[in-house]
Amino acid sequence: MTGCTVWLTGLPSSGKSTIASTLAKRLTKEGRRVDVLDGDVLRRTLTTDLGYTRADRDENVRRIGIVAMMLARHDVIVLVPVIAPYSGSRDKIRALHEEHGIPFVEVYVATPLAVCAQRDVKGLYAEQRAGRMKGLTGVDDPYEPPPQPDLTVYTQAETVTASVDSVHQVLRRKLLV
Ligand SMILES: Nc1ncnc2c1ncn2[C@@H]1O[C@H](COP(=O)(O)OP(=O)(O)O)[C@@H](O)[C@H]1O
Ligand SMILES: [Mg+2]
Repeated sequence: MTGCTVWLTGLPSSGKSTIASTLAKRLTKEGRRVDVLDGDVLRRTLTTDLGYTRADRDENVRRIGIVAMMLARHDVIVLVPVIAPYSGSRDKIRALHEEHGIPFVEVYVATPLAVCAQRDVKGLYAEQRAGRMKGLTGVDDPYEPPPQPDLTVYTQAETVTASVDSVHQVLRRKLLV
């Protein structure tokens, strides 16, 4: 079995972390080696020096992409729930994977902004509305949706299990699981 990187991009509260952790459990049960590189966790460990400027966001994605590729080339399925707001930075990570012959799967968690703001898992949308924070992706900072993702999931209209199933199906279709 070969490894791969599955990048879950989408707005805050779109469902990236939930899908990644649920899928990780399932793949582990199926006997695969899995790692989850969660943006929120890595910002407290790998990329503590970075902030939220465009340059820092790109650098955050670049580093996480390199780690993902290194794990994936040792047969790990690497799930990466990281916003990665800029299309160009995601394309660079795809190119890096292609250079090394490692499959890269881009999943767009396309939950509408209004639904994300309603969920507001971390209270960021409320903070922004109250004027206590600036630069929230999708609100007052850019989010560039992927023009050609391998899969788009619509979490506002389905259960977590259904979203996880559709990612699993794509991996099966690509013969990665
Ligand atoms: N189909 C679905 N897929 C993923 N999350 C969903 C889905 N439906 C509802 N949710 C809920 O949406 C929230 C998503 O939060 P989270 O995964 O932390 O988002 P993100 O990591 O993108 O910021 C969770 O409370 C989750 O239970
Ligand atoms: Mg998350």
